[in-house]
Amino acid sequence: MKLFGTMRINEDGNLSIGNIDVMTLAKEYGTPLYVVDEALVREQCQLFKTGFQSENMETEVIYASKAFLTIGMCKLINEEGLGLDVVSGGELFTALKAGFPAKKIYMHGNNKTPEEIKMALEAGVGRIVLDNQNELELLERLCRELNLPMDVLIRVNPGIEAHTHEYIQTTKNESKFGVSIFGDGIMGILNQLKDSQYITFKGFHSHIGSQIFQEKSFIEQADVMLKFIKVIQGACRIKTVELNLGGGFGVYYSKGDEPFELKPYFGRVLSYVKQRANELEISPLKVMIEPGRSIVSNAGTTLYTVGSTKLTHGGKHYVFVDGGMTDNPRPSLYSAVYEAVIANRMNETILGTYAVAGKCCESGDVIVKEAVLPHSKPGDILAVASTGAYNYSMSSNYNRLPKPAVVFVKDGVGRCVVRRETFEDLIRNDVVD
Ligand code: LLP
Repeated sequence: MKLFGTMRINEDGNLSIGNIDVMTLAKEYGTPLYVVDEALVREQCQLFKTGFQSENMETEVIYASKAFLTIGMCKLINEEGLGLDVVSGGELFTALKAGFPAKKIYMHGNNKTPEEIKMALEAGVGRIVLDNQNELELLERLCRELNLPMDVLIRVNPGIEAHTHEYIQTTKNESKFGVSIFGDGIMGILNQLKDSQYITFKGFHSHIGSQIFQEKSFIEQADVMLKFIKVIQGACRIKTVELNLGGGFGVYYSKGDEPFELKPYFGRVLSYVKQRANELEISPLKVMIEPGRSIVSNAGTTLYTVGSTKLTHGGKHYVFVDGGMTDNPRPSLYSAVYEAVIANRMNETILGTYAVAGKCCESGDVIVKEAVLPHSKPGDILAVASTGAYNYSMSSNYNRLPKPAVVFVKDGVGRCVVRRETFEDLIRNDVVD
């Protein structure tokens, strides 16, 4: 297993994160447990914040909170100086409860409800990212009713196919997100925005997918978007001052994943945008990006306790853990591949290949199909790496399993940011006659 951030093997042969032995964490907080390496999250934030800068262009990095959001995480993101992308009333509520500055919040979503839009207007979020014509009409009506203004970006679909899993690829022409740059709809929206009393058009947003390893997909996206802005400039006499290029930077989960280096990429993409905008004679733009996974993924590790092990009649070795697809649905949803270790025997000779399976009543509840591990026994602590993004945020209570706690670790200190759910939490909303 690749070790990230502050992960180390200590003198007892155990895995430690943030200078705390994971056995101590498992004992103190129980398992399954999401452990977040706070120093690594902050380091990633700074890599983006300081790297995605240009002397002659305004830039902003906006954290895509769908990857992992809690009040503690919002506070950290604010301390690191990033903006925040939210896609629902729930994410917005969390951000506001955390005291996140509303002006730095971008409200996304392809089907925002009137309640969500009202909430965003009343909170005074920085931008609403408009998805479609109906939404524009709804927003216009709500702005008028509340007598509140709003700045918007329009989410457009530039039709770029990035090589990633079909379900996390977002801008094929059949995608449900945004307005195509190739149809007539976009002109209608822009013309309506020109006349709006309450809504100010700021620019465009596009996001081409997630877990993307080809830098050229992003450069192509920038190119298509700039050419599109040029066309709009000529056809519509409306000024585009912002260009949000979304997130999607790929990360390492397992062998074969080869993320490109971000820092040099930032330099390349920003000078490309600058040069292309000059060539196309586009007025100065503020450029934004919205990373989610690349901020938190490698900083997260899930700890499980091994229960039984099994050798099936068919010859397959299983290691059963006390969580599963409820805390990590990504292997069953996207065939995502993770790496695992027995965290209390890191130096032991590798002995075999095991399927790490969870406790859900579902054959597909397998967290790692082929984990290379030492012989494990009940009570061992199994750690799965790179679970920081889209694990806690996509967790469920299937089979009425309580959601794990989340602990931030740093410099030898653990800090619980989400308490473990209890059985009582599970029935909180059940109506008892
Ligand atoms: N901006 C927008 C508008 C997005 O839709 C997304 C992700 C992001 C930014 C952040 O993308 P990232 O940097 O995290 O790749 N549940 C899936 C991922 C879905 C991503 C959806 N949109 C998974 O577990 O892989």
